[in-house]
Amino acid sequence: MAKNQIISVSFNNQEIGKIGYDEDRRKSFFQYNPDFLAKDSHKRLFPYVIRRTPNVQVFSEFEGETFRGLPPMIADSLPDYFGNIVFKEWLEATNKDISNISPLEQLAYVGQRGMGALEFYPAKEISSKSSINIDEITEVVKKVLDVKTSVKEKGLNDHSLLTIFKLGTSAGGARPKILVSEHKETGQLKAGDLVISEDYNHYLIKLSVDEHEGYSKEKVEYIYYKIAQSVDIWMMESKMIDDKHFATLRFDRQKGKKQHILTASGMTGWDYKKPEQSSYENLFKLAVDLRLPHKDIEQLYRRMSFNVIFSNTDDHLKNFTFIYNQEKDRWNLAPAYDLTYPLDALKNYLRVSRAMSINGKRTGITKDDLLYVAEQFSVKNPQAIMHEVVSATKQFRVLAESFDLPSKVIDKIESEFRKF
Ligand SMILES: Nc1ncnc2c1ncn2[C@@H]1O[C@H](COP(=O)(O)OP(=O)(O)OP(=O)(O)O)[C@@H](O)[C@H]1O
Ligand SMILES: [Mg+2]
Repeated sequence: MAKNQIISVSFNNQEIGKIGYDEDRRKSFFQYNPDFLAKDSHKRLFPYVIRRTPNVQVFSEFEGETFRGLPPMIADSLPDYFGNIVFKEWLEATNKDISNISPLEQLAYVGQRGMGALEFYPAKEISSKSSINIDEITEVVKKVLDVKTSVKEKGLNDHSLLTIFKLGTSAGGARPKILVSEHKETGQLKAGDLVISEDYNHYLIKLSVDEHEGYSKEKVEYIYYKIAQSVDIWMMESKMIDDKHFATLRFDRQKGKKQHILTASGMTGWDYKKPEQSSYENLFKLAVDLRLPHKDIEQLYRRMSFNVIFSNTDDHLKNFTFIYNQEKDRWNLAPAYDLTYPLDALKNYLRVSRAMSINGKRTGITKDDLLYVAEQFSVKNPQAIMHEVVSATKQFRVLAESFDLPSKVIDKIESEFRKF
């Protein structure tokens, strides 16, 4: 691509605007399509950072790995940690160097296969194959993640790399995952990057690639999912595949339609890797500012309590997402995801700080700290919520034993629960 590139962003088959990128200065430009502004609908598609004006807007403050110079709501569609590993491998195999690929060119690869409802044009054409096999894909992903072996020695053929490229680069996060669509009647599995239909269930599958001694992080995530559901945390229906992979229905693909979503980080430009704005108080303020209904605020409180009590310390700003209701031009809290014990339970860590602070703290959070947040955001009955979540810690051992998790893993995770 040329040095100064332009790409078009669309939603619901209409162009919202164009983004430009200045490679040397890591600056981006955004300009709304005047027709989109004139329609006067979907006014809150991008509630922050990008202003509703027909003028060109320049963004220079979002340089760095998280946003890569782009407006954060656009950067949310870029491949993330795992996606970039796959991206790099695929480029190397086709003799290209990732350091020469600009974020806009990456968006062109995202094209129509991104999470959420934003699409980027002109999109790069990538050939597709209809059916897929999860065992095969898992083996390829294991090879891709093997840092000791060079791309050539891994002996991956173009076809298998292409499949992983299509399925593994869109969803965010660090753990290996793919997008797969399953036919509701026949159970046939298809690449989930482009399919969107009411005949299919659209899944995000977190692949188990490093299970040892019966300890699979995806099993732990499934157990956490079961417990979270039991305490009224909203989550998409999820299941285990082959007793090891964690498959969850996508909330950005519902009723045969793409749903527009933004993470708390993409919505605001708060960098989820930096501590400055990473606090639950900011997240609550954002939820209030977005005019979320009070039941969503209470739901957020449940999730915060769950994360503290179940020691999910990886509760960063990209692990909270908002979902857009396009008929009402309103935002809601999206279902919860990535609720798990995030560390390796077979290792000991000296000091673990929570990604988001509560009452200024990242360790040693007390019941009083949680009560203080409840008071600030008018959450009723916080004691009852916490009590319910603490009682649910009992479920962990029972479920973990039924999944044959090693007892030392069960003991370790259980010992980290905060039963205040
Ligand atoms: N059910 C879902 N529907 C739609 N998108 C989802 C769903 N679950 C997760 N995602 C998206 O995929 C991304 C990665 O998922 P998740 O956070 O579970 O992965 P992870 O690799 O464990 O993340 P981390 O790097 O935080 O450990 C999320 O940031 C979210 O945007
Ligand atoms: Mg995550």
